[in-house]
Amino acid sequence: MLTTEANQRLTQVGKGTPMGELMRRYWHPIAPTAELDERPTKSVRLLGEDLVLYKDRKGTFGLIDALCPHRRVDMSYGIPEEEGLRCMYHGWMFDETGQCVEQPFEETVHPDGRFKEKVKIAAYPVEELGGMLWTYLGPTPVPLLPRWDLFVWDNVLRDIGKTELNCNWLQCMENSLDPVHLEWLHGYWSEYMLKESGTDGVPTAPWHRHTKISFEPFEHGIIKRRTYTDTTEDDPEWKNGHPIVFPNWLRVGTNFQMRTPVDDTHTIHWHYDVYAPPAGVPAPKQDFVPYYEAPLRQDDGSFAVDYIIGQDTMAWVTQGPIAQRQLEKLGESDKGIILYRRMLQEEMAKVEEGMEPLNVFRDPGSNEIIELFQERAPGVIMKLPPNTVPLPGQWDPATGDISVASTGKHAPVGLRARTTYQAAAAEAGVKLA
Ligand code: FES
Ligand SMILES: [Fe+2]
Repeated sequence: MLTTEANQRLTQVGKGTPMGELMRRYWHPIAPTAELDERPTKSVRLLGEDLVLYKDRKGTFGLIDALCPHRRVDMSYGIPEEEGLRCMYHGWMFDETGQCVEQPFEETVHPDGRFKEKVKIAAYPVEELGGMLWTYLGPTPVPLLPRWDLFVWDNVLRDIGKTELNCNWLQCMENSLDPVHLEWLHGYWSEYMLKESGTDGVPTAPWHRHTKISFEPFEHGIIKRRTYTDTTEDDPEWKNGHPIVFPNWLRVGTNFQMRTPVDDTHTIHWHYDVYAPPAGVPAPKQDFVPYYEAPLRQDDGSFAVDYIIGQDTMAWVTQGPIAQRQLEKLGESDKGIILYRRMLQEEMAKVEEGMEPLNVFRDPGSNEIIELFQERAPGVIMKLPPNTVPLPGQWDPATGDISVASTGKHAPVGLRARTTYQAAAAEAGVKLA
């Protein structure tokens, strides 16, 4: 249980709040690069700030205040020019530093006027890595954009999923420090839903009971370990464990789940997946990293709970916009959550004292690739079972897509990569195990 004040301190992300300042020490993903190729402007709300991301005709990315400083219209409707973004209302133009570089009517009337030089709006750096665009909202000097392994590996396929959630980011993260929910939410409840629907199928996770859980800090966050009644400490889930990457990501196998705070009551959940090919099979080259929307709800308004993350997101969102932790009763299964909250408190305190928090990188030599261990080896994708409940019409074995049929949206989650690799293996004459 936390006090109301402690809960606010952990959850509020606006500028000047303790967590807002901690979060401003990190680069955050803001869009798949491919999305800007389809439409060169995009509204971005991040840590409570309203911004517009654009790609100008020269290919430079900018992230600047959403509202034009002239008469306050939304520049996500603006026009990308050769160098900068032009407001569509009266034509003022801004570059990626936020500097106003053109004021057409003012310059016509006062050719020698210097008004535009005095007009500058907030602007943040944008970098591209692994098919995603990233930004940093904190103080200078700007740290390096971390080159985590999944973003830089060669010879792999990638895709990016996105779900917008109307809940605070911390609910998503605390779920990652809560191993026991796996057996209930994804095992027992999943089995129950299948039985109720009268469908033969595979639950999203087998229902096997945890016997032991453990958490320990490591250089990038917290390692989570577990045993079940049918596993031992020699199994990878205990021996390797899997990493919670501080402050707001989970790594599972070759997947990052990144929980980006939009504001205090909204989060974007990014599913970043990397699919390593089976031995001897080359990964077909990707011209761009595709993206998809993983749905939170179905058309009838009910939660889309036929896949693992859908079950998780249902749990996070139903805790409310900001979970009322002053009312909770933590038990034995919550010791990872307690450790994580303590770590967040310690890192917020470091920032308040002017120190650098965990996972800020400034040495290019150690940022060429930051490798994380994992309990599942790359390449294992060919052996994974479909990680969804195959309700009728939900999984198309012909294409390998998992589709949430009632929404018409796709959640590929690896099966498309599996199909691609099966085709690549056939073409290369490689026999798969
Ligand atoms: S409101 Fe943007 S140029 Fe006038
Ligand atoms: Fe889960």
